[in-house]
Amino acid sequence: MLPLYDKFKGRDLLTLADYTSEEIHTILNVALQLKEMHKKRIPTPYLQGKTLGMIFQKASTRTRVSFEVGMYQLGGQALLLSSNDMQLGRGETIADTARVLSRFLDGIMIRTFKQSDVEEMAEHADIPVINGLTDLTHPCQALADLLTIMEYKKKLKGLKLAYIGDGNNIAHSLLIASSKVGMNISVATPKGYEPDQTITMIAKDEADRNDADIVISNDPFDAVKDADVVVTDVWASMGQESEAEDRAKAFKDYQVNSKLVSNAKPDFIFLHCLPAHRGEEVTSDVIDGVHSVVWDEAENRLHVQKAVLALLL
Ligand code: CP
Ligand code: NVA
Repeated sequence: MLPLYDKFKGRDLLTLADYTSEEIHTILNVALQLKEMHKKRIPTPYLQGKTLGMIFQKASTRTRVSFEVGMYQLGGQALLLSSNDMQLGRGETIADTARVLSRFLDGIMIRTFKQSDVEEMAEHADIPVINGLTDLTHPCQALADLLTIMEYKKKLKGLKLAYIGDGNNIAHSLLIASSKVGMNISVATPKGYEPDQTITMIAKDEADRNDADIVISNDPFDAVKDADVVVTDVWASMGQESEAEDRAKAFKDYQVNSKLVSNAKPDFIFLHCLPAHRGEEVTSDVIDGVHSVVWDEAENRLHVQKAVLALLL
């Protein structure tokens, strides 16, 4: 059996800013144990009889399948709640939805637009609320990325992660996650697409505490120089479809291709949360090449989220 970590029970996961470096390491270690147990087919019935509701206001492949399978593997059950089919889609408030769901479920996973909606859900729910992506953050993805980096690089502290592209939810969660664990992070975006200033301030504060460097620039070559990890994401996120054409022009010099990554360390690894657009933010020689670990990264969503569920629910 896994040790019980009482200090996690009942908590929300809205942003990694709410978790200490030590707690993030605990989640990663539990994830590694659960992954090993899964590979050895050792049962992990830590959530027997428990139910997770999954509210999706945006599309998903990985988040939906990994949470649903994760609950099943932990002995519990997940329910898909499409907001279009819920009264939420007809004007029932987030607060009332949270209060009612708290009487049925043991946890809520929500993917939506505004971070404040996830916060409102958590404020009115008596059960843990897990952020499955907002416009601002994607904490579960950042945890999976940390787990993947740890598996390949055997450490996190002192490494250099380069994030190239849009200063979006993925960039924000990586800024917070990296600074928490003492990993240096260099973010390069086109002008006008820099990360949110409040997130950057939170990350800089954490970085100071954990001896990590944060560089935000418009220079992808400088960002990638000697990087251990190179990360990118789509140029137009969900909800930004109408901006896709303008963004394609603004981001054209920020493609992760073989010329750019030739500046990284010879043994760098490439991460992408997926879905990817080959020929846009990344070329196929990089994402399908020997440095890419994107399939392990996707798999690790399952293992870290199982750790989060087992600890919080
Ligand atoms: N990376 C990620 O969150 O993928 P989905 O949008 O498919 O859930
Ligand atoms: N930045 C992307 C991530 C998808 C997992 C989006 O929000 O659409």
